[in-house]
Amino acid sequence: MDVIESDAIGRAVEALKGARAVVAITGAGISAESGVPTFRGSGGLWRTFRAEDLATPEAFARDPALVWEWYWWRRSRIAAARPNPGHLALARFEGRFPAFTLLTQNVDGLHVEAGSRDIIELHGNIWRARCTGEPRRVFDQRREMPGPDVPRCPCGALLRPDVVWFGEPLDPAAVDRAADAVRACDVLLVIGTSAVVYPVAALPSLARRGQAIVVEVNVDPTPLTAEADIVLRGPSGVILPEVERLL
Ligand code: OAD
Repeated sequence: MDVIESDAIGRAVEALKGARAVVAITGAGISAESGVPTFRGSGGLWRTFRAEDLATPEAFARDPALVWEWYWWRRSRIAAARPNPGHLALARFEGRFPAFTLLTQNVDGLHVEAGSRDIIELHGNIWRARCTGEPRRVFDQRREMPGPDVPRCPCGALLRPDVVWFGEPLDPAAVDRAADAVRACDVLLVIGTSAVVYPVAALPSLARRGQAIVVEVNVDPTPLTAEADIVLRGPSGVILPEVERLL
């Protein structure tokens, strides 16, 4: 780590030491070191697949079998993944601050596997399916194997992955809880996200309006970088344990 980076880490640690309420927002980058592909950037899913064909309600209406095939493939990648030191450090952060809230755009469930409890999965969870007829009917499919047919609810309606697709609203209660936590925090950590998908992309400016210090942890620059108070450039699986060590 060079001088500039260690200075940035020092400032982040000082900000965290004085913080009462801390919020972390994570994106696909936190799971990259676990072997789960990100969406944008090299090796990203949207480099190979078209979101319009696989992650929209229209795509599911057109070809549910294709969409399910893609989700089963993603589930198989995630099933082989384990939480990495970044997930584990964030799980331990829960006990380090009077208030700590974890917001994730990830659907892989690795934060929960790492031990995080106060977590809001804003984009859903890939291991759950829900009925297209009665959306409150939700099924845990962690132990299920892909079948030849599109899975159905006992009521006969098709099941769909319980995730948020493009063009769909997020759960308003989850968004409200997330916004409340961000408005009230002293430090906002924005980790491994390209920070371009709304409404999560709007949260850093909400935090800054509340005078919070915004810390970005990312291997590359993002649209948020210029706005962040502190930028920690590097893999979250290295940076977050280092921050924890210095706390
Ligand atoms: P992206 O793939 O857009 O961004 C991943 C970010 O992680 C990039 O900024 C990378 O530079 C960074 N990154 C990669 N490896 C990293 C590492 N080891 N440590 C730290 N940073 C790393 O993923 P998201 O921002 O999560 O939504 O994408 C947001 C949403 O867009 C997703 O939830 C998904 C996607 O389309 C839906 O499917 C609705």
